[in-house]
Amino acid sequence: MNAAPPLATATDTAFELQALLDAAVDAIVVIDHIGTILTFSRAAERIFGYEAHEVLGCTVDILMNDEDRQSHGSHLAQYLASCIPRIIGRGHEIEVRRKNGTLFPASLAVGLIPESNPPRFVGFVRDNSAQHESEAEAHRLQDRLMHVARLATVGEMASGIAHELNQPLAAIATYAHACDRLLGGADPDVEEVQGALKQIAEQAVRAGNIIRKLRGLAKSERPTRVPSDVNQVIAELNLLIESDAKAHGVDYRRDLQPNLPQVVLDSSQIQQVVMNLVHNALDSLALAQVETGELVVQTRRTGAGDVEISVCDNGGGVQEAIVNRMFDPFCSTKPTGTGLGLPISRTIVTAHDGRLEYSPNEPRGACFKVQLPAMRAEPVSA
Ligand SMILES: Nc1ncnc2c1ncn2[C@@H]1O[C@H](COP(=O)(O)OP(=O)(O)O)[C@@H](O)[C@H]1O
Ligand SMILES: [Mg+2]
Repeated sequence: MNAAPPLATATDTAFELQALLDAAVDAIVVIDHIGTILTFSRAAERIFGYEAHEVLGCTVDILMNDEDRQSHGSHLAQYLASCIPRIIGRGHEIEVRRKNGTLFPASLAVGLIPESNPPRFVGFVRDNSAQHESEAEAHRLQDRLMHVARLATVGEMASGIAHELNQPLAAIATYAHACDRLLGGADPDVEEVQGALKQIAEQAVRAGNIIRKLRGLAKSERPTRVPSDVNQVIAELNLLIESDAKAHGVDYRRDLQPNLPQVVLDSSQIQQVVMNLVHNALDSLALAQVETGELVVQTRRTGAGDVEISVCDNGGGVQEAIVNRMFDPFCSTKPTGTGLGLPISRTIVTAHDGRLEYSPNEPRGACFKVQLPAMRAEPVSA
């Protein structure tokens, strides 16, 4: 027969408790009813940078930021008077202070030690600074990726842009030569020269406009979402899409439903999505054996009242083999494709609480639809 295990003595229990305190990853701090620190665990020493003997007997204020320091005393007093806990049992985010004065984000959970009179409280503090830093780093990387992707979109448009810029530049050269010739004659026709100069000015404005739009698209700025008219966002791209479509020998049609509800969006991000979709359509049309390549950009209000932008083409449609993977990063059927256009576009649209979906076009080709939530009217306050 096995002998019964010996009963734990009070000393054993105290040792176990100490071992628990020492092994815990979160800082454990026990305070009394006036905030005096009674216990300060190993993890607390590591996280706060104090040794236990430096803080035992001090008030817990030394671990707090200025704001909490001012309110903590009154919260304790309030609790003692009412016994209604404000934070007990609930984890919450706070900012705490290290010995060297630096502040860091942490989660705090507080429990009341049962039967303690006057009451004592145990606080568990988790250092969240690494998590916050990695979140901030992820945001920074996301911003950079968006910028690089935007530049890549602009880069993809280079051939269309070059083609479009060449036309006004060639016209300017022709008119300038004509002016030279006219002015070199015996009796120059001033009106004719003026006409040619006017043309030069117009063509220069046209070229300038193209460059301005391009700059706008390539610009790196912090994302800002404001209530916007989707048709206006598309209209700003018109010149770029038109020149690109022309360079690809594709018919470009716009079909924008008027009076759409406003959408809260970041216009340069949504423009990037549209340009990505337009590029994919033009790529597909370049390969497709169609007599007339067609690209249609449409906006409309959906049955649910939201706003939809669709980019459709009559190319080959998305290949069956990748239909389920096309939104995955690096999924590309093109020899020099990055496979990032669709996943980045979907990330942008999802961040706008919208959806980006694919459906085959009828009778042939691809259709990508971006649905964005319409701005709801502010509830009228009573
Ligand atoms: N309009 C389209 N027509 C046909 N296939 C498309 C279309 N748009 C996207 N695809 C397919 O989805 C893939 C992923 O697109 P994307 O993420 O933009 O990457 P990339 O354009 O660099 O290949 C493309 O390689 C292509 O096979
Ligand atoms: Mg692409």
